[in-house]
Amino acid sequence: MKNNIVPVEVAQKVFSDSNLPCIGKAGIREINKLARDLEAASGVKFIHMEMGNPGLPAAQAGVEAQIKALQNGVAATYPPIDGIPSLKNEASRFIKNFLDLDVNAANCIPTVGSMQGAFASFMICGHTNKEKNTILFVDPGFPVHKFQTKILGMNLEAFDIYEYRGENLRTKLESIFATGKIHSILYSNPNNPTWVCLTDEELRIIGELANKYDVIVLEDLAYFGMDFRKDYSHPGAAPYQPTVGKYTDNYILMISSSKAFSYAGERCAILGISDKLAERVYPDLKEFCGQEIFVRGIIFGALHPLSSGTSHSAQHAVAGILKAVNDGVYNYRDEVLEYGEKAKMMKDAFTSNGFKFTYDEDLGEPIADGFYFTYYYPGFTGAELLEKMLYYIEDGRVWPISRDESVNIQEEYFVRKIININRNWTFTKETTEIPAAVDSSWESVNLPHSWNNVDGQDGGNDYFRGTCLYKKALKKAELPEGERYYLDLKKDGSGYLYQRDRDRHAPLAKDQVDRLLGWSTSYCLDENEVPYYS
Ligand SMILES: Cc1ncc(COP(=O)(O)O)c(C=O)c1O
Repeated sequence: MKNNIVPVEVAQKVFSDSNLPCIGKAGIREINKLARDLEAASGVKFIHMEMGNPGLPAAQAGVEAQIKALQNGVAATYPPIDGIPSLKNEASRFIKNFLDLDVNAANCIPTVGSMQGAFASFMICGHTNKEKNTILFVDPGFPVHKFQTKILGMNLEAFDIYEYRGENLRTKLESIFATGKIHSILYSNPNNPTWVCLTDEELRIIGELANKYDVIVLEDLAYFGMDFRKDYSHPGAAPYQPTVGKYTDNYILMISSSKAFSYAGERCAILGISDKLAERVYPDLKEFCGQEIFVRGIIFGALHPLSSGTSHSAQHAVAGILKAVNDGVYNYRDEVLEYGEKAKMMKDAFTSNGFKFTYDEDLGEPIADGFYFTYYYPGFTGAELLEKMLYYIEDGRVWPISRDESVNIQEEYFVRKIININRNWTFTKETTEIPAAVDSSWESVNLPHSWNNVDGQDGGNDYFRGTCLYKKALKKAELPEGERYYLDLKKDGSGYLYQRDRDRHAPLAKDQVDRLLGWSTSYCLDENEVPYYS
């Protein structure tokens, strides 16, 4: 750990001040704070990947509708607890247009973000049947959902989808549902954080088993239409966003405006409850919240005590967005496609540097480029990697990449291109003069290289302390175009050629180079100095 992005002492101080028992296991907001503290302490800017912050401008249709609503005075009055009619109608239209499902406007209910939609659903689903006390999560998932169940004192079970794709999912789910204790199941599709997208066949399996075992399916569509391998964005036209609603009536759709419409700040989402589930009578629910009809339980038993409804003006905003999308005048996908493009660049940067994807495919098809992806680095646990990524740089590279020779780090991600030239040097102890050409007595070596690793160990006091020469010829014409070139010499003998100005040439005196190398463990030589030291 020689060259850290953030000096190791600075990182260690920030870590110790954070009071976290284990940096690698910190939560998303703790990581965010750590990164900000590291930035402040070191002056080094970070690329923030830890928060699902949309980072795109909010859908204009929403901004306009919200401003208008505020000007019309909605801020002064409580909103209807079950939602303003225009939002309910547009939400119902949206569900028809983009999921090809019929959900009555009465059963489309605004919530304070999908976060609150999930919380309210957990509260009510958890009390529908006294015999059932457990919710099932398909992992990996959005950790806050589990935290919500913890706050509610609910039992939960979870299983990792990785092993149970396709028909394997049926066996797994059936084994859990058959215990008779599961009242509901939650998954996000596309999935945060793996970007696994359940196929239609898998949704059919979930739907069929939900019918068989009377389980309520909570389908979290926070990333609506963002499996960019398909285009689900045309109102009333196939293909539609895949949904379990095709296979069961026991569903709640959670449609967030945060990501697809970049409206996270106003905290307004939709719960789309299937008409059958909404109207269903659950006698056990009455004891919990005084209501036995499911949708009334959600509205009066959960949303009312939680927040007395959802911000009035934000409801107008989302109504405006949904109307624009339903009318086909606003294509939300065009706006958010950028996430897919960014993910592709990031994924290329990771894979070309030795990282691998943890969840890499959907039943044989590579995972889509979307909002999230999961990666690992061979030999590191997740916790170790997370800690290293906060401050670590190895051998002049910005993350722990493989030691493969000739690693090219893409110019798009770094100002300079770094070429590893450690392979194929020639070496001799026999001369201190720089020859015009090497002869066959020169040894062929790769760097880093030690010329006294053996004689220093055998106790014979014949430790070689003389001057040696390493030589390698680099043809400028074979190097990438660039404005300037630098040779980065480390004292351990490894070297990197930094590409800059291609045309300048003026050797540095040898004693100057020696002095520089004597002072520091690593020194970056301008191209002008390169010919002398090669
Ligand atoms: C899977 C998942 N569900 C729900 C949410 C929360 O959505 P909202 O902002 O609408 O509360 C998020 C936000 O990141 C998410 O990733």
